[in-house]
Amino acid sequence: MSSFENLSYEERTFAPLPEFTAQANAQASIYDEAATDRLAFWAKQAEALHWGKKWDQVLDWQPPFAKWFVGGKLNASFNALDRHVEEGRGDRVAIYFEGEPGDSRAITYSQLLSEVKRAANALIELGIKDGDRVAIYLPMIPEAAVAMLACARIGAIHSVVFGGFSADSLITRIQDADASLVITADGGFRKGAAFGLKSIVDEALASEPNNVSKVLVVKRTGQPVAWKNDRDIWWNEALERQSPEHTAEFFDSEHPLFILYTSGTTGKPKGIFHTTGGYLTQAAFTHRMVFDIKPESDVYWCTADIGWITGHSYVVYGPLINGATQVMYEGTPDTPTKGRIFELIEKYKVSILYTAPTLIRTWMKWGEEFPKGSDLSSLRLLGSVGEPINPEAWIWYRDVIGGGRCPIVDTWWQTETGAIMISPLPGITATKPGSAMRALPGISAKVVNDEAEILGNGSGGYLVLTEPWPSMLRGIWGSEERYRETYWSRFDGKYFAGDGAKLDEDGAIWLLGRVDDVMLVSGHNISTTEVESALVSHPNVAEAAVVGAKDETTGQAIVAFVILRGGVPSIGGDELIKELKGHVAKHIGAIARPKQILVVNELPKTRSGKIMRRLLRDVAENRAVGDSTTLADPNVMKLIQSGLATSKSDD
Ligand code: WT7
Repeated sequence: MSSFENLSYEERTFAPLPEFTAQANAQASIYDEAATDRLAFWAKQAEALHWGKKWDQVLDWQPPFAKWFVGGKLNASFNALDRHVEEGRGDRVAIYFEGEPGDSRAITYSQLLSEVKRAANALIELGIKDGDRVAIYLPMIPEAAVAMLACARIGAIHSVVFGGFSADSLITRIQDADASLVITADGGFRKGAAFGLKSIVDEALASEPNNVSKVLVVKRTGQPVAWKNDRDIWWNEALERQSPEHTAEFFDSEHPLFILYTSGTTGKPKGIFHTTGGYLTQAAFTHRMVFDIKPESDVYWCTADIGWITGHSYVVYGPLINGATQVMYEGTPDTPTKGRIFELIEKYKVSILYTAPTLIRTWMKWGEEFPKGSDLSSLRLLGSVGEPINPEAWIWYRDVIGGGRCPIVDTWWQTETGAIMISPLPGITATKPGSAMRALPGISAKVVNDEAEILGNGSGGYLVLTEPWPSMLRGIWGSEERYRETYWSRFDGKYFAGDGAKLDEDGAIWLLGRVDDVMLVSGHNISTTEVESALVSHPNVAEAAVVGAKDETTGQAIVAFVILRGGVPSIGGDELIKELKGHVAKHIGAIARPKQILVVNELPKTRSGKIMRRLLRDVAENRAVGDSTTLADPNVMKLIQSGLATSKSDD
């Protein structure tokens, strides 16, 4: 008999607090308004931007190609900066930058604008024109935002490559986009030490073919770098000699704003490209409504790196267009202490925090003493993004970080969708821990079965988007065919997101992870996420990753990798494994009982925090482990394997 017999799944629903509702940006009527006339609704949101010329047509939809705000002209950088300065908000802090070594800078909208104007002039001096591609390979420092906005200002298309990617990944992306300029830094700081970036750019550019003629280098660490006099230019020198004046030109609403690469399940990365008017409309609208931003009083902090779509939409474009004040942090959450994020929340009086479940679960693992060591009372809203958040992490986030008073917005979206698509609206939507709840106003999300039939409440299947949305990807750079094939061919005329989802009896949407993460056990669909969620609901489990391993009898068998939680009294080895299997069986059903549970110290994660199940599947199926070069820590697989060799296999 176990002492955990009485644990039950989280079934509470959290109604909005009246105090929050009373001051919320969103009104309950917004859903009806959007349903009544979707295009008029989006046109109204677009009107919140500054347009040099208004559009003639809201939407031109030639499936699967959309054009939004056709004929309109605008400038992304003008919307993010000039507008605030011209309207008297120039002295407001745009960015509180906190460097890893503890250096900090407060940058106002006026200062950011002057910097962007100089950078735009420097790009022009280097011969960059509208439509040219510029690769940006920088640490999480303000110059990353300046570089992006300078490109946008002159109509150049930025392609940000996450600073943690290798020379190989960088050159593949430079080649695919045919970039002619790279903006990088000598290096950055991570976990108390300087790492090099310029050296990686040098290595990447040694590969042919490439058309990169100039490299702009921000001085961040001061470390020595190799230098090519005819190619390399210091950023600060290039900017210093420029005029601080630059008049933004208005570009077509459908002018490409950026390319951002996302890994496909197979093959080379996909260059997702976004255009200007629709993307900015939805990024700004969702930032205002989902995060309830009050630019005069809030301090907002999205912990994502600029190398991901979250950094594009919710560090650069959304917050700046809305005139928000935000925190930007260069380092990691555990340096110098595991309380760093909490210390910064206290220091800057952060009121809105947007982060990922993987970090929330890491905090749970580290223990409550770290958040308890700082004053977190400034927080008033919490957001989650990147993967399904398990109910236990949700509740922990709510109680320990949010002090029970902050609404949680679990936001579902993708690089491809450009902006948030499914999320509660704070102050309006009652929330269920673990559910992203419902499509935002103006967005049509449905769940379909294999035959593309739209399912009702109480059913599970595939998530699809049935109407075009303003910030949708306009394509895969250089491959129209792959765009059609990847997103529009599986369910004719509907956008296939690649995620499993179910609608509960009340119509709330539960994301079940990528469909390639769905296991088929004895003919039953079981989501890895559901089993992981069940496992982490056990008090002894901190993190879990589940894979379906080939099995002769059942097709696939469930193999779980778990990290145990410190601080909670644990029962012994074999007994605990038995206990955990029973726990999963109890919560989901006997069919979901894992065949094998392996206790490990680490899980293989990409730099964006996604668990690489493919590698765990290799272990579970006794194969040589495949390519693990994209892991944040490539040693993790060795650790797991050597740990398993000594632990006894369980059946
Ligand atoms: C995939 C997209 C959106 C920015 C970060 C990731 C998963 C994202 C959630 C969520 C469940 C989520 C999906 C999606 N995902 N947010 N709130 N609940 N799953 O962008 O790298 O393009 O990944 O992340 O599986 O398809 P991305």
